[in-house]
Order: sequence, then structure tokens, then C-alpha cells
Amino acid sequence: MCSKDFLRAKSEGRKLSMVTCYDYTFATLFARSAVDAILVGDSAAMVMHGHPSTLYANVELMRLHTQAVVHGAAGKFVVADMPFLSFRKGVPAALDAASALMTAGARAIKLEGVDGHEDVIQRLVTSGIPVMGHLGMQPQSVHAYGGFRVQGRTDDSAQEILRQAKALQELGAFAVVLECVPAGLAHDITRCLQIPTIGIGAGAACDGQILVMQDLLGMTADFRPKFARRFVDGARMVLEAVAAFDDAVKTGTFPTPEESYS
Ligand code: KIV
Repeated sequence: MCSKDFLRAKSEGRKLSMVTCYDYTFATLFARSAVDAILVGDSAAMVMHGHPSTLYANVELMRLHTQAVVHGAAGKFVVADMPFLSFRKGVPAALDAASALMTAGARAIKLEGVDGHEDVIQRLVTSGIPVMGHLGMQPQSVHAYGGFRVQGRTDDSAQEILRQAKALQELGAFAVVLECVPAGLAHDITRCLQIPTIGIGAGAACDGQILVMQDLLGMTADFRPKFARRFVDGARMVLEAVAAFDDAVKTGTFPTPEESYS
């Protein structure tokens, strides 16, 4: 898979699947799956480090997670998130941030928004770095929204997101994530663009879908937005396994002689 395959998939009407990942062990498992690409999301700040938002991710944190994922899933198309403000301090700083992620093994970067950093996007693209956009609910703007809220519900904001999507395509992005927008708007944007849309909370018309791995695996107990289908009850499986271990230790049935060295 490469960024050009995203365009090919759209032109052939083939849906794209993406999942987030942050560590080596899960990357080795996802590498054995048929998912088209892995995103090392800045959601790492929340799901791996317990921060309240993605604003706490920085370039070094993203570099380390990207490196771990690439070590586990070397054959996969790995996209790394440009963290908060790393692409808002001018072209040289953005190139340094992108360089850290690409030399950690990412094959593309993702960044939120477009207005005010068109020059960065253009320079990244012309430097040979595939760029994935991210529109709709942009988690790095959570404080501007006043919370993680669905975007594009009014005509004006829907038009605005459509305009930004076209601008991203014009600047050379190879795909765009649409997060938490009405399904009808995602449908219209998907129809308007040649590049694929990857939805999360954006309905079924998108060219592909992405989920955060903890949501997909049912690991998150408290945070359950309606779009985050749990494909397995991972939390229950982990709790049952740990309970069985605890019980085996305390009843003296673990370890057995076979599980011990002579
Ligand atoms: O950081 C992330 O996990 C993301 C996905 C929600 C698309 O950007």
C-alpha cells in the first residue's frame, strides 16, 4: 500500500480500512490483518497516556510511538499524526516535525485543518511527504469548540468544511479524514472529491473508515460515542484473564511444575 493506492481504491470503488495503533505488540497483530493502513494518532496522548485531550502529544512522543508501530508493522502503510501546533510555527519547524516522524518510519503524515498552514501542506507535498488531511471535528481545536462536538450541522459550517476539503485536495493531500460530521455532509464531500474520505463518526458514504483501536477492541469503558462500534468486548476479556490469573496464584494452581524450571 502507498498513498497512490488510496486514490486507486477510490476510483475502483474499493473501501479503505484504517485503525489507530501506538505500540509494537498490537502493530505485529494489525500487520497480520487486511487493514489498509495504520494511523499513529495523537489520540495516543489520551488512550495511552491518560491526558484529557490530544493537545498533550508532542513531536517526541509521536516519534516514539511511530517507531514502535513501524517496528511491529514494517510492511504496513503507517501514517503519523503531526501533533498540536507542530505545523503552525512556519515551514521550517513543520519540516523538522515531519522529518522526525518520517525518519521514524512513517510513510505519510496527517494534520488537522488547512486554513493558515496551506504553505506547510504545499511544502510537505512538494518535498515528497504524502499528506492526509483531517477536517470536521478537529480534536486539537477542542477548546475552540467548547468540547468534542459534531461539526458541520449548519449550512454555513457545512459549506466551510466542503471548501476546506476542496482546498486540501488542491494542495495535494492524498486523502482526508472526516471526523464527527453529519452523514449527509460526508456523502456530499465524498462525491465532490477525487481523493478518498476516511470517516470516523461520518456515516457510511465515506470511501473508508477509521476507528481508534481501544474503541474497536472494546477496551474503553467510559468513552462510548455512538459511532465507535466495539467489535469485541476486550475489557471483559482482559478482566476475566486477570481475574483467572489472580485466582490461580492465590489458590496455588499457578505455576504448575510444567511451568517451572528444574
Ligand atoms: O488521533 C487519532 O486517533 C485520529 C483519529 C480519530 C482519526 O486522528
